[in-house]
Amino acid sequence: PVVGVSMPHESATLHVTGAALYTDDLVARTKDVLHAYPVQVMRAHGRITALRTEPALAVPGVVRVLTGADVPGVNDAGMKHDEPLFPDEVMFHGHAVAWVLGETLEAARLGAAAVEVELDELPSLITLQDAMAADSFHGARPVMLSGDVDAGLADSAHVFTGEIHFSDQEHFYLETHAALAHIDESGQVFVQSSTQHPSETQEIVAHVLGLHSHEVTVQCLRMGGGFGGKEMQPHGFAAVAALGARLTGRPVRLRLNRTQDLTMSGKRHGFHAEWRIGFDADGRIRALDATLTADGGWSLDLSEPVVARALCHIDNTYWIPNARVTGRIARTNKVSNTAFRGFGGPQGMLVIEDIMGRCAPLLGLDPMELRERNFYQRGQSTPYGQQVVQPERIAAVWQQVKENGGVAERRREIAAFNSAHPHTKRALAVTGLKFGISFNLTAFNQGGALVLIYKDGSVLINHGGTEMGQGLHTKMLQVAATTLGIPLHKVRLAPTRTDKVPNTSATAASAGADLNGAAVKNACEQLRERLLQVAATQLGSSASDVRIVEGVARALGNDTELAWDDLVRTAYFQRVQLSAAGFYRTEGLHWDAKTFRGTPFKYFAHGAAAAEVEVDGFTGAYRIRRVDIVHDVGDSLSPLIDIGQVEGGFVQGAGWLTLEDLRWDAGDGAGRGRLLTQAASTYKLPSFSEMPEEFHVTLLENASEEGAVYGSKAVGEPPLMLAFSVREALRQAAAAFGPSGVAVDLASPATPEAVFWAVQAAREGD
Ligand code: MTE
Ligand code: MOS
Repeated sequence: PVVGVSMPHESATLHVTGAALYTDDLVARTKDVLHAYPVQVMRAHGRITALRTEPALAVPGVVRVLTGADVPGVNDAGMKHDEPLFPDEVMFHGHAVAWVLGETLEAARLGAAAVEVELDELPSLITLQDAMAADSFHGARPVMLSGDVDAGLADSAHVFTGEIHFSDQEHFYLETHAALAHIDESGQVFVQSSTQHPSETQEIVAHVLGLHSHEVTVQCLRMGGGFGGKEMQPHGFAAVAALGARLTGRPVRLRLNRTQDLTMSGKRHGFHAEWRIGFDADGRIRALDATLTADGGWSLDLSEPVVARALCHIDNTYWIPNARVTGRIARTNKVSNTAFRGFGGPQGMLVIEDIMGRCAPLLGLDPMELRERNFYQRGQSTPYGQQVVQPERIAAVWQQVKENGGVAERRREIAAFNSAHPHTKRALAVTGLKFGISFNLTAFNQGGALVLIYKDGSVLINHGGTEMGQGLHTKMLQVAATTLGIPLHKVRLAPTRTDKVPNTSATAASAGADLNGAAVKNACEQLRERLLQVAATQLGSSASDVRIVEGVARALGNDTELAWDDLVRTAYFQRVQLSAAGFYRTEGLHWDAKTFRGTPFKYFAHGAAAAEVEVDGFTGAYRIRRVDIVHDVGDSLSPLIDIGQVEGGFVQGAGWLTLEDLRWDAGDGAGRGRLLTQAASTYKLPSFSEMPEEFHVTLLENASEEGAVYGSKAVGEPPLMLAFSVREALRQAAAAFGPSGVAVDLASPATPEAVFWAVQAAREGD
């Protein structure tokens, strides 16, 4: 069978040879293209009193300046209608208020520089702390309640409180935001967009242009990374390009350069959390009372569902019988923060993993022991009321990673190393993971596909998911080939287009393969049923006795064979329909956002990681010596792809937790609100030198997930959260510089500087 076989990404060769085309590469194949350039206002907040575009029109090569007055439909690019595409109020440093179209990029750039903007400056809020102090919030304020928190805290043997503020994160996809729009031969709008959610991009483009959805087609060929950053943020850029094309009749290309992308697009939400936790005498959690505040930035974007997912993941793998967790979204004068791999899950989990790491020494327990004692058991439910039906998976990956990593023995070696080395300390930490799969919003849990078989036996599949490097298309090819019973080379996959499969959900929440895979499978099953009937007649058998394997149909107890191509041709002449629309919706889901209760997830993904670090006591510099991971992807659809996802997710998580450090100017000067880390020179991403020196990823075996496509589980986001093992190892290594049993607070990101301060604090024994 093709499903479950390791194969390279379908575009791997194209990726590594540079031949893979991305949205902006299509410009070279398009005639008469105009280039769009933003007029960014470099102030954190202010009302526009004058916008003069004439000076730009005087610049040679400038064709048109797009402003709010040009919008035929709705001047808004957000699903929450709080994101004016051409704003009258500058809401963050770098906000684009107009766009210049030029014959060349340089002409457009000079034109943008010539546009004159006058502003009445307004007070701004830059930091999350300032926004909380000013009571500046927007959107929903969900409260997740279970049991009786006050009683739980009252009867706890130990109660601890704490606070943590942790950082935002830049997606840093290799391909920046890009769109290319033109008016097609039938007069309709066609937009190529680097978007994870073509249907929503289509919807916003239509709104802005005052058109119906059937007048707008959006295509996504592939993305050079999305990571959630292209779930909602591409819409406005696509709308600007489409508006330009509509007004000028010429193709318009919009591609942000890196600085523009960094200063204009939303990031992972930084959070603040305040908590009070109660443990019984054995270290079992009795109650948790917490308030999580996300830095939403200037508009809502996806902040509400991100905060909902944060709340739904604050339990991670631990049973919390009594909980009261409140979520809030601060409104600041910064970019509008958005989805990023894990979608709030990492932020929620950081809170509980931080609590475990900080409290273990206070309870006199080994952190590993404290974590194990609190794992979910059969029959227990999450604070939002969903049963954890596979708690033994949590224990299984945990146990296996301890064995694979030789954890017990290495911990003894580390203890010996540490007592012999006063200035260098090592530590090994294990953390586990439970991540809910499905969109909280039940409606999004649907997928569609359109599968076409041509007379020559070749197959073309369309589905609603987008490819961003994660290998979704590879998996879909495998699913189609397996379901139809044909070799992989017979199947080709078309770029994602809204005129092939309508009303698709974002390729997000790691559910791409689950939803689209099941839809592709559904379409292929319909086709297979029809072809089995045809084959049965040809082979003198009944359809239930016919199998199609590797492109050959055979009947049980019969030596005759019928090749796939002949079967298809016969079906065609018998006027059997050779195309099918597939559909899938996840059953059994229920979510009430008001009461914050339900069963929002089809299942949970699990994993565990053991990370060993070494910290230098003089500088706080550290290395990741070894990482072992055991991850549960059910029965993998494509093991090589899944292992790549686990490795990539883990490293991206380690970047967020230990290296990447967005800095914003919160001073009162002219640069107030400016993103200071505007390039790879100042924003440190993980690179080869930060990779674990030894890195072992194992997929949990015999883990078939019932009810999911070919027994597989989603993989895209969960492994990011395995990186908590690195953060906890750093905390333990810092603690090893102090007296035994010292409790250590660690900033996040745990940059070498932060680790240095943790080492200092540990040495002082506080
Ligand atoms: N992997 C690569 N290479 N590039 C990406 O942009 N995005 C991640 C993850 N893995 C991403 C990636 C995110 S945020 C999600 S939600 C999933 O892929 C989406 O794809 P899937 O649903 O097909 O797993
Ligand atoms: Mo992923 S953050 O759900 O696009």
